[in-house]
Amino acid sequence: MIQSIDVFSSSISFSEQDVRDKTVVVIDVLRSCSTIQTALENGASGIIPLGDNDDAGRYTRYLDAASVLLCGEKEGKKVEGYRLGNSPLEFTEKTVGGKTILFKTTNGTRAITRSSGAKKILIGSFLNLSAIAEELRHEEDTEIVLVCSGWNSRLSIEDMLCAGAIIHKVFDFNMPEEASDGVKVAYGLFEKFGEDIPALVNECNHAKRLRHLNYADDVSYCSQVDLYATVPLMHEGVISIRK
Ligand code: MLT
Repeated sequence: MIQSIDVFSSSISFSEQDVRDKTVVVIDVLRSCSTIQTALENGASGIIPLGDNDDAGRYTRYLDAASVLLCGEKEGKKVEGYRLGNSPLEFTEKTVGGKTILFKTTNGTRAITRSSGAKKILIGSFLNLSAIAEELRHEEDTEIVLVCSGWNSRLSIEDMLCAGAIIHKVFDFNMPEEASDGVKVAYGLFEKFGEDIPALVNECNHAKRLRHLNYADDVSYCSQVDLYATVPLMHEGVISIRK
């Protein structure tokens, strides 16, 4: 049974204590969590998320260069010297199959690494909405935290909408009892705009930024609901899909 649920609105809006020993779902619809899901579905053997202070070189030194790809973005663009950026459409079976991905993004991997004190870390997006909800419904005696990655210190509407969708599904379209303000906002947002997810995602600030960078196709791709039925899970610093 779920003991409690809360929602945080950006990758820096929560403390270690807020997530300690809880089940955390990190949400970054545009685009990190959608990219992680896609890479794993296309056969990547694992994703190692890097935090702000993590030096990618430290890892590449110990891992076989042929089987490790350093990927990620800054300001939405691929970082010079990285193999791939953060467009899910780049993470094809041919490119990432059998590879370990070292992944550094502005907000998504920051939210994941800042959640390291959690009991469990799951990766959520619209692409695996029902699978995430199903996993949470089976949690026993658990406190759940939905961490919306946002954009820098700001709220992103697409992540809040996804949090609201998860809450609706987990609680059978009822507002949870004693809901926090964050839960009420996410729930209300989905109640009002949930019927047309792609339309709201398409209008959000980050979708506009991505279109300027010629990533309009990423926005449409990441707006799809339930393209996959799996839940990426972090274990000992590596994200993979439980078989
Ligand atoms: C992030 O982690 O901030 C993003 O996923 C940004 C992006 O769209 O590349």
